Amino acid sequence: MHNEVALISTVAVSFVAAAIFGFIADRLRLPPLVGYLVAGIAMGPFTPGFIADTNLAGQLAEMGVILLMFGVGLHFSTSELLAVRRIAVPGAIVQILLATLAGVALCSFWGWGLGAGIVFGLSLSVASTVVLLKALEERNLVNSANGRVAVGWLIVEDLAMVLALVLLPTLADSLGTSGAAAAHGSGSIAMTIGLTLLKVAVFAFIAIYIGPRIVPWLLTLIARTGSRELFTLSVLAIALGIAYGSAELFGVSFALGAFFAGVIMSESNLSHRAAADSLPLQNAFSVLFFISVGMLFDPSVLVREPVAVAATLFLIIVGKSIIASAIVLILRYPIAMSLTVAAGLAQVGEFSFILAGLGVSLGLLPKEGQDLILAGAILSITLNAFVFSGAEWGHKLVGRLWPAFSERHGKQKHETLSRELAKIRAAGEERDRKHEQKLKQLIDTFPLFSQMDRNSRDELFLLFRPKTATPGEKVIRVGDRGDGMYFVVAGSVEVRLEDAAVQLEPGAFFGEMALLSGGRRTADVVAIDFCQFLVLDRRDFNLFASRYPGLRTAVTAMARERSEMNVSRHNGD
Ligand code: CMP
Repeated sequence: MHNEVALISTVAVSFVAAAIFGFIADRLRLPPLVGYLVAGIAMGPFTPGFIADTNLAGQLAEMGVILLMFGVGLHFSTSELLAVRRIAVPGAIVQILLATLAGVALCSFWGWGLGAGIVFGLSLSVASTVVLLKALEERNLVNSANGRVAVGWLIVEDLAMVLALVLLPTLADSLGTSGAAAAHGSGSIAMTIGLTLLKVAVFAFIAIYIGPRIVPWLLTLIARTGSRELFTLSVLAIALGIAYGSAELFGVSFALGAFFAGVIMSESNLSHRAAADSLPLQNAFSVLFFISVGMLFDPSVLVREPVAVAATLFLIIVGKSIIASAIVLILRYPIAMSLTVAAGLAQVGEFSFILAGLGVSLGLLPKEGQDLILAGAILSITLNAFVFSGAEWGHKLVGRLWPAFSERHGKQKHETLSRELAKIRAAGEERDRKHEQKLKQLIDTFPLFSQMDRNSRDELFLLFRPKTATPGEKVIRVGDRGDGMYFVVAGSVEVRLEDAAVQLEPGAFFGEMALLSGGRRTADVVAIDFCQFLVLDRRDFNLFASRYPGLRTAVTAMARERSEMNVSRHNGD
């Protein structure tokens, strides 16, 4: 491969191979992601033929994770996250602890040290975001209470991994490793934990309190320019910018940063558009995630160590599932939730590779362990669809064997949680509805706008600045320069011409003549009631006129009619 075009060839070959293998997988009634994984294996260094740049593919995959997490964040509000915390926080923590213990046990059976066991166990304890989300999406579960719990659980796992990644180098020393660790070993563990927690806390504070004040404002600012491409670009800039910035500054993962970027943006009225704009990129780049996993995989490990691979896979699929579903049931949530969470998390992915890589570089984990983790990842991702089917089958079986248990266990808590989530969702919908209603009112009041499509109305709405006036207040003074055009929403105004007065009611507009002619105001306009206006400033008026030629024509026609009327009245006709 020519090095100069490494990026292009990696992307091109990845897309072509993924499309072909994805199609074949679909024909074979397998999930398309199995096809993507196979495409990755084919492009990887362990199989003959084309070899793509593993490093580049890994970075592109990271883009996929960022965009995907951003997408989830867009559909997730802070209150929803808080609503599932009572199950997600203890669930994820206990699952990580128990899964890690199981990993340590397995490793000590293989004769590996404690450090290897911890890295191995931790790697297997955390699931892949991409895989979980694709699985939930496919089953239409993302917005269900069970789906929300699974995603919340994953977010807590991600947070725990942030801590694990910074602690590993420090711990490496005390766990007795090669010299590579010594350099990292300085500084007490407590200091490291404290500093990490502090950074995460600062990040959370900014994400929760400052982000929602800045990001929606920024989006509105950009949307007002009316440039669609600038809007899409800004959505991506905010997503990737926050992801990268938070990783650099606060040491949280790209994915977590992107998730919060999405959550922050979800508060804006423009979040639907942001979601629609970023979806195609999310889809394309998440495919690259599977390709890059495939590329890292060395199939020979299946022949070299079949038993160890089977044990790893068993721990990921069966061990983790049993742990997760037991926790959910013990916390008194229903069986259906326990099975969804268990199936969704019965796989490992991106974080595991990072942890395993770090473990090897610190001399904690033997290379063999990394190969096993990769094999476990690719197999558990491939089998995940079957695990989900198994969980559904298991649910039916429990329902048949123990109908009373299946019916009653966790019912109350589930109902409370569902109600709480429904309330949060309803509040969001209410906000959307109010926005819709405002737009509809605008259309009803101003027939001028009735011909516009949805997106244009949304944009136009952003251009307006609300303004009020009290009776007797002079809104426009004759002879002034034109600074804006006014739409009367409520109350009435009087246009005081030299020899007559014209009253304007809600639905009418004024102040257009000076803007169109570039000259001075032709009359005084005085409020005769308490008035509400929507104002288009001069700059926005020009934008509006060039963007909607139909509206410009209508406004110009009205201005001409008015000035003709004024001239003929003046001439005493
Ligand atoms: P402008 O000249 O910018 O400021 C005064 C406004 O009064 C003018 O734009 C029109 O919008 C409005 N106006 C002027 N003449 C009439 C009229 N005959 N009937 C209604 N409105 C008018």
